[in-house]
Amino acid sequence: MKGLVLAGGRGTRLRPITHTSAKQLVPIANRPVIFYGLESLRSAGIHEVGIVVGDTAAEVRAAIGDGSAFGLRVTYLPQQAPMGLAHGVLIARDYLGEDDFVMYLGDNFIVGGIAETVRTFGAETCDARLLLAKVPDPTQFGVAEIDENGVVLGLAEKPVRPRSDLAVVGVYLFRASIHEAVRAIEPSDRGELEITDALDWLLRTGRTVRSDVITGFWKDTGRAADLLACNQIVLDGIHRDVRGSVDADTTVTGRVVIAPGARVHRSRLVGPLIIGPGTVVDHSYVGPFTSVGRDCTVTHSELEGSIVMDGSAITGIRRIQDSLIGRDVRVAPASGVAHIHRLVLGDHSQVELAV
Ligand code: DAU
Repeated sequence: MKGLVLAGGRGTRLRPITHTSAKQLVPIANRPVIFYGLESLRSAGIHEVGIVVGDTAAEVRAAIGDGSAFGLRVTYLPQQAPMGLAHGVLIARDYLGEDDFVMYLGDNFIVGGIAETVRTFGAETCDARLLLAKVPDPTQFGVAEIDENGVVLGLAEKPVRPRSDLAVVGVYLFRASIHEAVRAIEPSDRGELEITDALDWLLRTGRTVRSDVITGFWKDTGRAADLLACNQIVLDGIHRDVRGSVDADTTVTGRVVIAPGARVHRSRLVGPLIIGPGTVVDHSYVGPFTSVGRDCTVTHSELEGSIVMDGSAITGIRRIQDSLIGRDVRVAPASGVAHIHRLVLGDHSQVELAV
């Protein structure tokens, strides 16, 4: 069985973080979200993975390389434009050949792995198997209707009036029959070749699609709040590992990871949290469920429940909470005039200020 990871597309919902960079590389506990998916495939016994890439191909290749760091052989499959998930399958036809495969959406984060589902699919004859999860607002997802045995009866992509509360999770198991399906369908109203339409075509032509309803943690990391939730879950499982330098005036409580080359002075750290290599924390409080990337500075500030990406500097701010801060960002008090906010924000930024 092969893997097909989708890492093209547009990151519109996470703008401005993903305006120009790949949404699959947004860090969770300082590691790109796609890394967790690649590890999941490897743990399910898959060695060969095709990665569909778009405008951000160079960045994705730089992060993943030939896949050997994950125990995988990776082949990159360029997609001209984000024309839909089923289009990703269409362009992977030659790579996939007649093999069964797992399609994994590169921005999905699933706790608990997929090994069991992959094993089940290997031992059965149905044409596809889906993972489903109960969600409060199914209109944001593909939605499946199933019978009491998990056999899929119908599917709809982001329906206005969902017929169930079961969202399609971004992991799909397919046989070679899906290639005929993706060739048979037409673009949807949003102009994409939808994988839900290809699955629906399988159903209409008499094939069987089965499903597993998962109860563990799953997020499509398209929104800031979802990313912060994933960050919290991963940090909750870390072990204390202090390799960077911590001075005698600093207190470190709980499960704290400080990468080699990081320096912490006169500060209070309360885990779980992670601080990346080359980062300097000085005269600050960094609280639970915070990830600070590499080469950042946090001085005279308080930070909690947040993700700070590489190269950013936070100076003299109390307190930043539940925030997502991109790369090479500067956050500091406005100089000169008291009680003003001076902002340079990218398009689609969101700021909530204490006033
Ligand atoms: O996350 C689960 C949902 O993913 C499912 O419930 C939906 O049925 C499914 O259509 C999909 O919906 P999204 O709107 O969230 O898909 P998105 O456009 O975010 O793309 C998912 C991943 O696939 C993302 O990593 C980008 C990549 N992609 C997307 C498109 C449209 C590609 O590589 N090529 C593409 O053409």
